[in-house]
Amino acid sequence: MKLRVRPARRLSGRVEVPGDKSVSHRAALLGAIADGVTEIRGFLEAEDCLRTVAAVEALGAEVTRKGPGEYRIAGAGLRGLGEPADVIDCGNSGTTARLLLGVLAGQPFWTFLTGDASLRRRPMARVGEPLRRMGATVVGRADGAKLPLAVRGAGRLSPIAHVSPVASAQVKSAILLAGLYAGGPVSVTEPQQSRDHSERMLERFGARVERDGLTVTVTPGPLRGTSVTVPGDISSAAFLLVAGLLVPGSRVTAAGIGLNPTRTGLLDALGAMGASLAISGSDGPGEPLGDVTASHAELRATTVAGALVPRLVDEVPVLAVAAALARGRTEIRDAAELRVKESDRLAALARELGAMGAAVSELPDGLAIEGPARLRGAAVASGGDHRIAMALAVAGLVADGETVIDDVECIATSFPQFVDLVNALAGGDAASLEP
Ligand code: S3P
Repeated sequence: MKLRVRPARRLSGRVEVPGDKSVSHRAALLGAIADGVTEIRGFLEAEDCLRTVAAVEALGAEVTRKGPGEYRIAGAGLRGLGEPADVIDCGNSGTTARLLLGVLAGQPFWTFLTGDASLRRRPMARVGEPLRRMGATVVGRADGAKLPLAVRGAGRLSPIAHVSPVASAQVKSAILLAGLYAGGPVSVTEPQQSRDHSERMLERFGARVERDGLTVTVTPGPLRGTSVTVPGDISSAAFLLVAGLLVPGSRVTAAGIGLNPTRTGLLDALGAMGASLAISGSDGPGEPLGDVTASHAELRATTVAGALVPRLVDEVPVLAVAAALARGRTEIRDAAELRVKESDRLAALARELGAMGAAVSELPDGLAIEGPARLRGAAVASGGDHRIAMALAVAGLVADGETVIDDVECIATSFPQFVDLVNALAGGDAASLEP
């Protein structure tokens, strides 16, 4: 499927974006291994999170869809899951695969996991290796480093203190989940703070979680079902907010989005670029949330590196579009992780934004972007990566002429309402899907 995008005259309005992807995955997984019932509101009904729902159902948790985004999970308890009858297909979802590996490390039966072509290329050893040290068996392709993988857990795992070489919430979360099944406290130390949704949600489900700087420790023990309200996904809102900044005369409000400080790096980076953002926040139960309004502004270049990178790791594609229109040279460094996302995002951004006239060069660990460029509509491709597809659509809104983005089915993995919301803000048909 292709997405045809025309230059927008003005974007204006207030939108509610669908639920946070990371928080939705965690709510389904923790609900499945908790004792009792978990009620979830605002669950993201996009392909990735529905993969997690299907996975926990295959393992024996009882999931009822009560309405749009409303789910009830009758948890099986830590030890109540059972061997699935078939291979679990995680689709495009790295979070499903990696967090599930953590849960499966505690299950004394075999489970087989696979994924789509993109997920089968992504590194799994970063999770498999520590889980093996805890006593799980993880075998599979590339010496157990890539999907398909077969996992056999143990009822009681060995406690470890894992020092992760990457700031990855998926790695951290997998080990903390496995830690629930260990014979003693399990800790993870990361080089920089990654998103902390698992820590917050584990606490909400009654687990004991301690934080000391960049180290998190979980004490093994049962979880109890609870209610979870999922905030809007700041990573989805990011596309609409950046579009609001870039299209002259625009004013876009994303209402009720998660403002967890481990996720708000994009707002900080855009602020440093001179963006005019109005942020009103409140502390919700579990996750802070609020409204963000972006009004059109001329942007200047910035530098993104170090501890800021994990706080905006999924927003680099749309930040690159903003940087292409900003005055000066923006450098994004320390971002080599972008090469092992749903696609090699550094290569994809340099190639596809380059085709639209942006001056983007690839660095080993990031991008250098010289602006402001006059973008021109072009035929570009997402490479099957939802965030590349949506970033290119934002670029198309501010390019001269039409942009046609190929391979956009992937948008449904995280933000199925994207095209409709862009059109609602544009007051017309700025974007249209074609077979
Ligand atoms: C996620 C963590 C990040 C992020 C991904 C979701 C999560 O990945 O890119 O979209 O929900 O834990 P890494 O943990 O690999 O950095």
